[in-house]
Amino acid sequence: MGFSTDAIHFGQKPDKESFSVIPPIYLATTYARKFEDRDAPFVYSRTQNPNRKMLEENIAKLENGKYGFAFSSGVAAVTAVMKLLKPGDHVITTKNIYGGTLRVFKEMEKWGIKFSYVDMTQVENVERELKPETKMIFAETPSNPLLYLTDLKKLSQIRDSFNREILIAVDNTFMTPYLQRPLELGCDIVVHSSTKFLNGHSDVVGGIVVTNRDELQKPLWYIQRAFGAVPSPFDCWLLLRSIKTLAVRMNQHCYNAKRIAIFLASHPKVKRVFYPGLPSHPQYELAQSQMKDFGGVVTIDLGSKENVRKFLDNLKIFTLAESLGGVESLVNHSWTMSHSSVSEEEKKELGLTEGILRLSVGIEDVEDLIDDLEQALEKI
Ligand SMILES: Cc1ncc(COP(=O)(O)O)c(C=O)c1O
Repeated sequence: MGFSTDAIHFGQKPDKESFSVIPPIYLATTYARKFEDRDAPFVYSRTQNPNRKMLEENIAKLENGKYGFAFSSGVAAVTAVMKLLKPGDHVITTKNIYGGTLRVFKEMEKWGIKFSYVDMTQVENVERELKPETKMIFAETPSNPLLYLTDLKKLSQIRDSFNREILIAVDNTFMTPYLQRPLELGCDIVVHSSTKFLNGHSDVVGGIVVTNRDELQKPLWYIQRAFGAVPSPFDCWLLLRSIKTLAVRMNQHCYNAKRIAIFLASHPKVKRVFYPGLPSHPQYELAQSQMKDFGGVVTIDLGSKENVRKFLDNLKIFTLAESLGGVESLVNHSWTMSHSSVSEEEKKELGLTEGILRLSVGIEDVEDLIDDLEQALEKI
């Protein structure tokens, strides 16, 4: 089946009682059971719930994985993946990553997990850090907010030649399985903040983990129910509803973002544009081979905090807000917002400055969005 057919149907059947085409929301916290029946599909709603099960089957299929797990936030999903590790284990990752994920890694250091941070745009840097204790490589591609890429196929080849047991986890939030499928490129775990493009309507906070490794099914399920960071049935229902339109939404996000990136790249008030779909992006070739399209996030450098302030004060359609991936256009000042938990020194090391803004390009009429950006740039 094609992507959208699966997105709309997989894991869902008309309700057995009412034949409703859309599944009901199962709000029950607990389920009637038979004495000593250990195989009942639903027992208690933290452990499993019909809406969560439908969502998990659906997203696993879309990522071409075997097992899906839904969490109450993207950060909870990242944390669940980290909980697969034990003290003394070593992880290779990068600081060019969502600030909250970096914060989880710093917390994990307190529990004895060791981290090496490298520039993952060159996978050879990962190869140099591989050690017998290395148990995981964690990538985010494109990265938040500077849209650096990691070559996932090359990464998995390097891992295979060192030790196949090392897990490669990839945060696929910016792409969604419609645009990029890390498991098909040899990676083992996909993580999402489903708060973003997967849900796409800025009304659910959620996280997803998908794997195709059989040996991870039980540990991940154990972590999910033992630590209990699970989404509500209503959130699962909303997310499954949203995924039905993922492909059409992503097509429009990509179209609008590319038009905007081209417009901004030739604007004299814009110092730099970061977008993997522009030939000027240093990894444009990799973007073309690894991703079906280039996504809905465009990052720009306006040169200074003062310019940022004037620009933000004059925007009319783009809203200054945390988050991304919704149908409405948002703008985020990474220095003070998404990456506020990262130290100033580290931000500078990453190339993040006070003049940088991350645009989450929505699916409004692109001419209106360009007009909005143009009039706000004129005020600088
Ligand atoms: C790439 C990425 N991963 C993970 C997260 C964390 O997700 P959540 O905010 O749903 O916990 C975010 C949030 O912005 C993100 O951008």
